[in-house]
Amino acid sequence: MGKEERFENLLSEFHRIPFEERQERLAKWCDLDPQELQILRGVNALPIETAEHFIENVIGVFPMPMGVATYFNIDGKDLLIPMAVEETSIIAAVSATAKWIRKMNGKITTETRGNLIIGQVQIPRVRDLELAVQRLMARKTELIQVANSIVPGLVARGGGVKDLLFRSLPREDQNGTMLVIHVLCDPKDAMGANLINQVCEGLKPEIEMITEEKVGLCILSNLVDGKLTYARVEISGIDPEVGFGIQEAAQFAKTDPYRASTHNKGVLNGIDPTLIATGNDWRAVEAGVHAFAARSGKYQPVTDWHFDGTTLVGEFLAPLAVGTVGGVTMLHPTARLALKILGVQNAEGLARILAATGLVQNLGALKALATVGIVKGHMRLHAANLAMAAGASERELPLLREELSTALAREKRISLSRAKEILEAIRSTEKPIHFN
Ligand code: COA
Repeated sequence: MGKEERFENLLSEFHRIPFEERQERLAKWCDLDPQELQILRGVNALPIETAEHFIENVIGVFPMPMGVATYFNIDGKDLLIPMAVEETSIIAAVSATAKWIRKMNGKITTETRGNLIIGQVQIPRVRDLELAVQRLMARKTELIQVANSIVPGLVARGGGVKDLLFRSLPREDQNGTMLVIHVLCDPKDAMGANLINQVCEGLKPEIEMITEEKVGLCILSNLVDGKLTYARVEISGIDPEVGFGIQEAAQFAKTDPYRASTHNKGVLNGIDPTLIATGNDWRAVEAGVHAFAARSGKYQPVTDWHFDGTTLVGEFLAPLAVGTVGGVTMLHPTARLALKILGVQNAEGLARILAATGLVQNLGALKALATVGIVKGHMRLHAANLAMAAGASERELPLLREELSTALAREKRISLSRAKEILEAIRSTEKPIHFN
């Protein structure tokens, strides 16, 4: 059986089959052993002893459901994408959209633009800007050597500090000029925060000596615009109403920051869950994406969509600073497994998958918004949460869900109070209810 056929078999009815069967298929596809499947079930998913090393004042662990996005083919490779997330309909929507792209013979391609993260060494109120820059420029090679001596392991892996940039900034308080030195570093497969912070602090005495100025903060920047990830989706033969609707939705986001914020949240719906699943620092990525979105001075969407009457093209561009080594990625048993399921070899591979998932997630939401609206699909799945919150027992859940779906189709809205009302009606019905 060919790989493509095996993938189709793996996915057939995937969300309808019982959990055990889903795990069995996953184990076969990703070559997982019984112990790894137990970890996915939550057994030793994060032992307390390990958790104690991660953070302070540990009182327990916080479980979260983890699912996989299906139907993805990125850069010609079929893959399952693990997503740890609490919100209903994200995984269904991104999978449905990936399935649609596949059915339409669309293409999802990605690339990385640049490989340099940024550390900042600040001289808060420079006394002689020109002289300081002149002296730093003259000793640049030596400074880079000093910087690299702080991270010999990284240099041995082919990474390290590659360049220094000097930026003069008029202070907001109009009290002089700030000189900010950007330390540009290739972190290879690490996210790089700890590396670059140590490099910046290590350079401080050297920079103070060379410039005879006082250094202030030494810290990485999350606006990693020297290392961007790009993803592109192209689909032909689209219904013009859908295609123009999606283009128009992108126009709304470009015009109005109030919309751009929600648009980008939708993109991040497809990114954050995999960051969490792989133990990456999602706050850093969020900060970077939003700062990049506002780089022109106006908050903008990080994706764009164009339709020419037949072909729809979507593009994503933003910094996604992630790691596959360092941090907790390799220490967290579930994160390690998520990387195994993804089958990524390095940080670049992970970032490219994230960019693609964010773009496809965005397409799913825009397609729904431009056609039937978001409520229909989202609330149909959210009905399960409402049914549980209303207090339905395991036996009552299927019927209440069904009743809520009917109510949603009829009344175009459902709520917790409506769910409670329906549950009461079910319970007070004179006829005994037979489940199964
Ligand atoms: N669980 C997992 N995947 C699901 C699913 C579920 N309950 N329901 C649908 N899917 C995915 C599957 O990949 C499915 O293909 P498969 O049956 O071969 O596995 C694919 O969607 C199509 O299924 P279908 O039942 O035809 O879905 P639909 O066309 O009725 O769409 C939604 C349902 C929810 C996916 C769709 O309404 C949607 O995308 N809405 C937007 C919701 C959104 O953007 N949410 C983000 C947060 S607001």
